[in-house]
Amino acid sequence: MQTNRKIADSIYYIGANDRRLALFENMFPIENGVSYNSYFIDDEKTAVLDTVDRFVSEPFFENVDKLLAGRRLDYLVVHHMEPDHAANIGRLMRMYPEMKVVCSAKAGQMIKQFFGTDLGERAVYVKEGDKLELGSHTLTFIAAPMVHWPEVMLSYEEKEGILFSADAFGSFGTLDGTIFNDEALIDEAWYAEAGRYYTNIVGKYGPQTQAVLKKAAGLDIKMIAPLHGYIWRSNIGDFIAKYDLWSRYRPEEKGVLIAYASMYGNTENAANALALALGERGVKNVRVKDVSVTDVSNLIYLAFRYSHIVIASCTYNLAIHPKMEHFLLDMKALNLQNRTVALIENGSWAPAVIKNATEIFSSMKDMRIMEEKVLIKSALQSGEQIEALADALAKDVK
Ligand SMILES: Cc1cc2nc3c(=O)[nH]c(=O)nc-3n(C[C@H](O)[C@H](O)[C@H](O)COP(=O)(O)O)c2cc1C
Ligand SMILES: [Fe+2]
Ligand SMILES: [Fe+2]
Repeated sequence: MQTNRKIADSIYYIGANDRRLALFENMFPIENGVSYNSYFIDDEKTAVLDTVDRFVSEPFFENVDKLLAGRRLDYLVVHHMEPDHAANIGRLMRMYPEMKVVCSAKAGQMIKQFFGTDLGERAVYVKEGDKLELGSHTLTFIAAPMVHWPEVMLSYEEKEGILFSADAFGSFGTLDGTIFNDEALIDEAWYAEAGRYYTNIVGKYGPQTQAVLKKAAGLDIKMIAPLHGYIWRSNIGDFIAKYDLWSRYRPEEKGVLIAYASMYGNTENAANALALALGERGVKNVRVKDVSVTDVSNLIYLAFRYSHIVIASCTYNLAIHPKMEHFLLDMKALNLQNRTVALIENGSWAPAVIKNATEIFSSMKDMRIMEEKVLIKSALQSGEQIEALADALAKDVK
C-alpha cells in the first residue's frame, strides 16, 4: 500500500518515518523519531526530489513505482548528499537507467565518492539560477552552501510557490498522518525540537543560513517543503522569524539557563540557590539543567534560546567536569555568540573552572563574562556571593 499524499497540483509527498532510530546521526536522541521527506513531481516529465535514509527504503521505492504507474522516471533531483537523504541514489539509478541526476557539481563529486559511480551522461549539473523544466512546473535552483553541507541546493517551484528547502526548516519528529504545519500542534515544545534540530545541526553556519534567508525573501513562497518534518503552508513568517534569530545568534528571549555539573550535590545546591534568588527578584524565565543527565543537544538549544547562561561546575582532575566541558566546547564549535555568561566554580583543593571556562568563552565571539563570580571551596557556606550574582543577573535580564 503506497503512503504518499498530494501536496499541490502534480506534486506528491513520498517520504517515510523512522520510529526505531534512537540517535539521529548516531548522536542526537530523537524521542519522537524523524521523517525523511521526499517529493514526486508528475508532469510532462517525472521527477523524484531526493531519496530517503536506508532504514526506510521500501515505502519510498513503492511510492515511486506506484506514482510512475509504468511511466519512465526522467529526473532525480539531489538537493543534499547526506546519507539520510542520499542513501538510495545508487539503487534508484540502477532501477531507472534512463533517469538523469540533477544536482550541483559538488554533489556529483560526492555521488562518485559514496557510490563509486561517475554520473557521466546522466549528470545534469545545475547552479544558482538554473532551471529544470518539467512541463507546467519549473524548478529554479538556489545555492545554499553549508546549509548543511557544501553541495546543498534548494529549489523553488514557481507555479505552486513551493520552496524545496533541503535541511533548512527541517525538524525532528515523525509525520503521524498529518504532514502540514496547519494540521499539527505547533507549540513551544515543537519549536524547541525544531530549534534543537537547527542549532545542533546547522547552528555553526549562521551567516550561510542568513544568506539563504535573504534569497528566500525575494520569492513568493506559499509552501516550504523541507527534508524533515512538517511542510509549512501557513504562518510561514513565524518559522522564518525563528530561523532569523537563531542564525544571527540572537536570543529568542531574555532568560537564564543555569547549567550545572555536580557529583555530590554541592554545586547543584549553589545552582538551586541562585535560581531561587533569581525567582525572588522577579526573574521568572529560568531553566536549571544538570548537564550529566541532559543531552547536550538540549543544552545547546537552550543556550541559543536564552540571553544569559550560568555555568556552575565542580572541578574534576584539575579541569572542568567533563560533561560541562563537552557543553562548553560544543557551544564554541557551533559558533554561539553574543551571550552574557556567569561562572560558579567549585573545588576542594585546586579549583580550575573559572580559569578554563574563561579561556573557552574568551575565544568565542561577543561572550560577556560577568564580574560577579561565585567561588566555592567544597560547599557553599554563605549566601553572599550567590546574592550578589543574583542581583547583577536580575538587573541585567530585566
Ligand atoms: C575524581 C575527582 C577529581 C577531582 N578533582 C579535583 C581537582 O582537580 N581540583 C579540585 O579542587 N577538586 C577536585 N575534586 C573535588 C571536587 O571538585 C569538590 O569536592 C567539589 O566540591 C565537588 O562538588 P559537588 O559536590 O558538586 O560534586 C575532584 C573530585 C573527584 C571526585
Ligand atoms: Fe543534512
Ligand atoms: Fe537531513
